[in-house]
Amino acid sequence: MKILEKSGNEILLLALPTERVSRGEYILIEDEVQKRWMVVQVYDESYLDWSELVNDLVREEILNTSAKRIERDPLEIKTISYLIRDMKLLRCKIRGVVEGVMLTPNVSWLPSRVTSKIKKLSIVELFSLVKREGYRILPIGITNNGEGFYIHAEALDGRLNIITGKKGTGKSHLAKLIVSKLAEYGAYVIVFDLNDEYKGIGWNRDGKPNSIADKVVNLVPGESLRFTLEYIGLSGIASMLQHALDIPGASLREFGRIWEFLKAQGPVTMASLINAIQKWRCNEFVRDALFSRYHTMLSSNLFSDAGEKSIRFEGLLSRLKKGGVLIVSLSRLQPQIRKMAVELILGKMVNLLGRGKIPPIFLFAEEAHIYLRETYWDDIVTRMRHFGIFTTFITNQPDVIKDCIYRQADNLFIFNFTNDVDLEAISRVSTADSDTVKSIVKTLPPRTCMVLGKAVNELPVILEVNPTDMLTLGETNLFFKNYVKIVQG
Ligand SMILES: Nc1ncnc2c1ncn2[C@@H]1O[C@H](COP(=O)(O)OP(=O)(O)OP(=O)(O)O)[C@@H](O)[C@H]1O
Ligand SMILES: [Mg+2]
Repeated sequence: MKILEKSGNEILLLALPTERVSRGEYILIEDEVQKRWMVVQVYDESYLDWSELVNDLVREEILNTSAKRIERDPLEIKTISYLIRDMKLLRCKIRGVVEGVMLTPNVSWLPSRVTSKIKKLSIVELFSLVKREGYRILPIGITNNGEGFYIHAEALDGRLNIITGKKGTGKSHLAKLIVSKLAEYGAYVIVFDLNDEYKGIGWNRDGKPNSIADKVVNLVPGESLRFTLEYIGLSGIASMLQHALDIPGASLREFGRIWEFLKAQGPVTMASLINAIQKWRCNEFVRDALFSRYHTMLSSNLFSDAGEKSIRFEGLLSRLKKGGVLIVSLSRLQPQIRKMAVELILGKMVNLLGRGKIPPIFLFAEEAHIYLRETYWDDIVTRMRHFGIFTTFITNQPDVIKDCIYRQADNLFIFNFTNDVDLEAISRVSTADSDTVKSIVKTLPPRTCMVLGKAVNELPVILEVNPTDMLTLGETNLFFKNYVKIVQG
């Protein structure tokens, strides 16, 4: 390989057909004279675009098809000409310069075109030049030359992460892998599971429980996840009424008064609440609004007056002494009840974290735009993160996440996208340059992702995600696979 050109943060390399380098791979340019090394990453490859070469190709093709001839090439010129035609131009982004033993993000140095030695740099060699913080290893995949690659669990701690890619590329699989490893390390994780696919996280494929089996708790809102009104408190209920049930302002104020009145007499319960609404002296419209909200709350089954049938997160987490995974199954809920459940859970978590009653928690939210209200997004990346809720959004629709959320994301795991609109959206906001993202992401095979951000010290890494022995659930219920067989016996 030889350097052809450098402009800005790009280097153009010339490679022989035998020198196989693929997109995403790193290359080291060693300048022994200046005792410096440059690290570049290939983001695109193409043929030489000389017009003479094209002329040659066209001429030869026409001659081949139009007339039979005997070829004599004693000097083997043809071999050389073929080599030239197959030579590649590698477009690379400069990722930094090694001075001493550390990689520094310097893009201005010019290595020698003549004396520089150019060779491939494996991901393991690359990360021996940059120090990544943390010591809890989280293996997630293998690089394209077969080396195992890991990130550190600490790189996700206190951070906002996004896993995105088109349908079926392996996003949830990666999320499950990370969740189970975090739980192994003793972390607390809550998953908003939209397709009932995380339930198998505590089981092996052969049906035996795995190392985190006793840390997994399945919670179904309205069944195993119910709260007392007293536990959620006025502010939590008011926020649910306002954001999930659209209660008018006047009715909300009246609700507050009723609550205070009941509270003065003892714990507020669903039974005492309906009695009070019936007897309360107020405008009929307000009473109707309160009645309808009350009945939605009742039919959601999210509230219980019996303390033993309700959940207290602090109690639940304190029983899970060595970490745990709370899987909130949102799949069978009506959209409104889903929103109510999410509002109650997040509100209560923030409240408990603010009072130091529970440890910080990792939140994995699948397709959050379906149940998360508009104003929660900013809240999650600012206030909630500050309190100790560290979110990972998982989505196949990158445009539902606002640009400002992407910009604050610390780590991005991007799987394949072929749609230009999606690619544009993701490349505009990622921490890596948009050329790299656009060019690499659309060539990624399934189960392969590009990792960007703090976990990889801002050096984009492409890897094939590890398989797991976990029980996979929540696969699409297919007609031909599942029903035709049954019908045909
Ligand atoms: N690295 C992997 N090794 C083995 N199997 C995998 C891997 N990644 C994904 N799979 C399998 O491929 C299928 C699709 O993966 P997954 O459900 O994670 O995709 P997804 O991107 O979340 O899809 P969707 O957009 O529909 O949610 C699953 O059956 C999963 O078990
Ligand atoms: Mg999925």
